[in-house]
Amino acid sequence: MSNAEKNAGTRRDFLYYATAGTGAVVAGAAVWPLINQMNASADVKALSSIYVDVSGVDTGTQLTVKWRGKPVFIRRRSAEEIEMARAVPMSDLVDTSAENANKPGAEATDQNRTLDEAGEWLVMIGVCTHLGCVPIGNMSGDFGGWFCPCHGSHYDSAGRIRKGPAPRNLDIPVAQFTDDSTILLG
Ligand code: FES
Repeated sequence: MSNAEKNAGTRRDFLYYATAGTGAVVAGAAVWPLINQMNASADVKALSSIYVDVSGVDTGTQLTVKWRGKPVFIRRRSAEEIEMARAVPMSDLVDTSAENANKPGAEATDQNRTLDEAGEWLVMIGVCTHLGCVPIGNMSGDFGGWFCPCHGSHYDSAGRIRKGPAPRNLDIPVAQFTDDSTILLG
């Protein structure tokens, strides 16, 4: 298979994920040139970390990128989403661990799940912790976050499991802002 064919395949996968996630295809287009450049180098090591330009992500929308073979949701939460997540007592949570690779062992408070202190940016692996489907976002499900239609798992606006068979909150990968509009994954 030529590199062009491989890239075409990857692009189709991304479109699938974007549709399954929330459909942030327009914003996603800005991200792909960066990732494809890395594909072109065919360097597996380079793929282990990617820079994502989030300057085009509006409040209340989500960008989905593919990283290490998995969809990653990068959501810029609205004030309403932040407020809802912060109002949840720990006693209501199924999984009380933040499941945040940047804060090992931390409790699942909203503040321990987000990338910035204000809680605007939530970055998560978009894979249901039940059996691996890609949950639907955009304030979906009974808790205003993500819903996995495969077996009915509901995640809240901080990506914490609240109802259904999934055992764990959506995982948060190693991530950081490298400037105001760039997130480094890995
Ligand atoms: S894979 Fe998501 S609920 Fe089963």
